[in-house]
Amino acid sequence: MSAILARGLTRIYRRSAEEIAALFGVDLVIEPGEFVAITGASGAGKTTLLNLIGCLDRPTSGLLKLLGRDVRALSGKDLEIMRRQHVGFVFQDYCLVPTLTVEENVALPLLFSRALHQRNRVRDLLARVDLQDRSDHLPRELSGGEQQRVAIARALVNNPEILLADEPTGNLDSKQGNEIVALLRDMKLTIVLSTHNLDLANRADRQIKLADGRVV
Ligand SMILES: Nc1ncnc2c1ncn2[C@@H]1O[C@H](COP(=O)(O)OP(=O)(O)OP(=O)(O)O)[C@@H](O)[C@H]1O
Ligand SMILES: [Mg+2]
Repeated sequence: MSAILARGLTRIYRRSAEEIAALFGVDLVIEPGEFVAITGASGAGKTTLLNLIGCLDRPTSGLLKLLGRDVRALSGKDLEIMRRQHVGFVFQDYCLVPTLTVEENVALPLLFSRALHQRNRVRDLLARVDLQDRSDHLPRELSGGEQQRVAIARALVNNPEILLADEPTGNLDSKQGNEIVALLRDMKLTIVLSTHNLDLANRADRQIKLADGRVV
């Protein structure tokens, strides 16, 4: 079973009379454990693709299967479960809650999945991203790379099979960006990462290049 399978995946944004084909007829297969980089110019459709894979958005047409399940057939509730339990998301701007500590930010998704605050799991993840000695810090008391590592730990707290990262290194310098990619590589999860940085993309198992909403 593939982790991610898309056939003819299309997303058309409609704004009054205007239609923008942000993604058009995309075919791709990503196997469990693969680390894939999505590249392409600004506006190529990278975020649109990741949002569809992450069930944050629905395709206009085409097939999308996640972990063998056809997302078109999922109810709203099942989509929510897919998002919560099977997919982790990391964004360019970290999206940490500024008033919560590092440890509380990482534990946050457990609250929504009604899991008990598993202190040991949070501690293990903080150790995995090498932030065990920053657990009481607030986000503003961390560097950009450290904040992104908190966001990665948070994305992993529900133990997802798939991790999606949209320009996770976009706000980081090259040293911190390299560290983030090395960390993700070591996770041995199915990872789909979008990036403008071709050096970083070259360190993925495979690259998928988008141009004007199509795979090229
Ligand atoms: N909500 C929306 N409504 C209308 N058009 C949109 C919307 N979101 C994105 N678009 C358009 O869809 C196309 C693809 O956008 P997308 O955000 O997927 O590109 P991207 O590859 O992630 O770009 P970047 O590298 O700048 O993040 C662009 O032309 C964009 O203007
Ligand atoms: Mg984008």
